[in-house]
Amino acid sequence: MKLKKSWISLLSLVAIVAVGCASGGGTISEESLGLRKTNLYTEKSETVGEVATYGKAAAGTSKRFDRAFENAPPMIPHDVEGMLPIKIGNNACTGCHMPEVASSMGATPIPKSHFASFRPITTIAKNGAVVKEGKAVKNTSDFKTVVHKLDKLSNARFNCSQCHAPQSTGAPLVGNTFTPDFQSKDAKHRSNLIDTINEGVK
Ligand code: HEC
Ligand code: HEC
Repeated sequence: MKLKKSWISLLSLVAIVAVGCASGGGTISEESLGLRKTNLYTEKSETVGEVATYGKAAAGTSKRFDRAFENAPPMIPHDVEGMLPIKIGNNACTGCHMPEVASSMGATPIPKSHFASFRPITTIAKNGAVVKEGKAVKNTSDFKTVVHKLDKLSNARFNCSQCHAPQSTGAPLVGNTFTPDFQSKDAKHRSNLIDTINEGVK
């Protein structure tokens, strides 16, 4: 219902402008204009953002979140205390999530997409043409995604927390009304990007 309030604020702004222009009358306090309900002219401690708090359930005892949309990177449902920052020689995430250990840990295995490179092999020909995967291309964005399978975790995926984050338990000021559509029941809690990466691409 908070969303409605923000619409009302927007409408009242339009109304003030309209009324203001027409008759010069009608005032609305600034406090009622935004999501912030405190005086706009003071920076007293009354205006503080909500502290972001995270679930404390340890890995192995947390409940997975549904995916935000098909093939969205899943949010981390468990506590990451002591696991971050990820360092070259110390990546706790892989210790439980590598496919060869994941099932024994009860963790979701790192998907095949993370063991692949989607970057086309690109060179510049003598005549200056951009060559992708051995083919000169005029428009570099006009290129079907290639999948180069790797025999190890892609370096581009090593820093898990670049894309996967814990979910804060804070209540958003404006509720999210987005509801995703999934192409299959499975897609709500598993990903299959490696199989669908070129879906809809001619
Ligand atoms: C001690 C083992 C362990 C470690 C270390 C660990 N995880 Fe997990 N992870 C799990 C388990 C087990 C689950 C399944 C939920 C549960 O049982 O708590 C999980 C779930 C997840 C999920 C949700 C997967 C889904 O299908 O929705 C993500 C994302 C994730 N972990 C990312 C990470 C990242 C990133 C790190 C490193 C910062 C990490 N995990 C470290 C064991 C671990
Ligand atoms: C560049 C962004 C990025 C990085 C870095 C990354 N991931 Fe992901 N991850 C994704 C996306 C996007 C998906 C969902 C689509 C897919 O399967 O590729 C995903 C999916 C997953 C899944 C769900 C697999 C399933 O079958 O549903 C797990 C588990 C996971 N990642 C773990 C990890 C771990 C652990 C790391 C670090 C070693 C990592 N990811 C690094 C973007 C990333």
